[in-house]
Amino acid sequence: MQEEIIAIKNEAIAQISGAKDVAELEELRAAYLGRNGKFTLLVKRIKDVPVESRKTFGITLNESKTAIENLISDKKQELIKSLSEKREWFDLTMPGYKSGLGHLHPLTLVLKEVKQIFNYLGYQIADGPEIESDYYNFEALNIPKDHPSRDTQMTFYLDTTGTNFKPGETILRTQTSAMQGRVMEKMKPPFRVLAPGRNFRYEQVDASHGFEFWQVEGFVVDENIHLTDLFGTINYVLRQLFGKETKIRFATTNFPFVEPGVDAYLQCTICGGKGCSFCKGTGWSEIMPAGMIHPNVLRMAKIDPAKWNGFAFAIGLSRIVNLRYQIKDLRTLTTPDMRILSQF
Ligand code: DAH
Repeated sequence: MQEEIIAIKNEAIAQISGAKDVAELEELRAAYLGRNGKFTLLVKRIKDVPVESRKTFGITLNESKTAIENLISDKKQELIKSLSEKREWFDLTMPGYKSGLGHLHPLTLVLKEVKQIFNYLGYQIADGPEIESDYYNFEALNIPKDHPSRDTQMTFYLDTTGTNFKPGETILRTQTSAMQGRVMEKMKPPFRVLAPGRNFRYEQVDASHGFEFWQVEGFVVDENIHLTDLFGTINYVLRQLFGKETKIRFATTNFPFVEPGVDAYLQCTICGGKGCSFCKGTGWSEIMPAGMIHPNVLRMAKIDPAKWNGFAFAIGLSRIVNLRYQIKDLRTLTTPDMRILSQF
């Protein structure tokens, strides 16, 4: 009896695998699993099996039936797929797939808002390459080859073997500030520019660090620009983004391409200033490093620092999105997981 089950199973496998269409498959289903199918008839014969073998008989039979059922449904999918691929078969009666309604990514939503705010302030948008030269990413920003601040910008270098580029000269940009030199060389002051974009750093990835992050660089070059113009701009922009009650504080900082350098902090919107893991217990979140453009940066772009000056700033876009949507983990923004993305 045991052998009989196996023989029927093998015969079924051979026939199912060779089935040419769904109709043949359905016939085979009836022939093996239907009311008078070969397996069904075997079930009825269980009473002829000696009592001590019934258990094994039952198990083998059930396993074989399940295997055959699975094989039939797999084969059916395969047939349907190959038919629809050949476009020879179209079942008008099949229910259609409901396609999900697309929507904008939270980063795109916030970027759109940021651009609108700056458009209102007279800024124009500049776009530049993510694969950047050492010159624009560092040199043109007053960061010469051995400058210690390079150590903080964990740079990805591109393999230039077999190209005309010198080793170490082509990188993934680490900061959208790289757009300063590019724009300043091309445009005549006065100008106000916003350069949003993705940056890359060789970081250990965790909840608050990613190897890629979004920044919105902004800079203004004009006559008689003061630090207070910068403060006023930051104040206005952050209040537009986070509301009139937003608390902001400034601290001094150092970046080679600005003098003086300032850091704008926003009271943490996740804990309301009480201190949480996102703001590392401080109640404040660093959101906008900025400063007055260093004369060397202007000089390298052939802009006369005796006549022109300006300010520059960077908005940590990923961080704004996190604060806005109260997302604690940066990785949420780069996941392609629809279960997460469709919540925004
Ligand atoms: N580019 C800097 C960074 O990513 C941030 C920055 C600081 C940009 C000061 C600025 C600035 O424009 O003025 O580390």
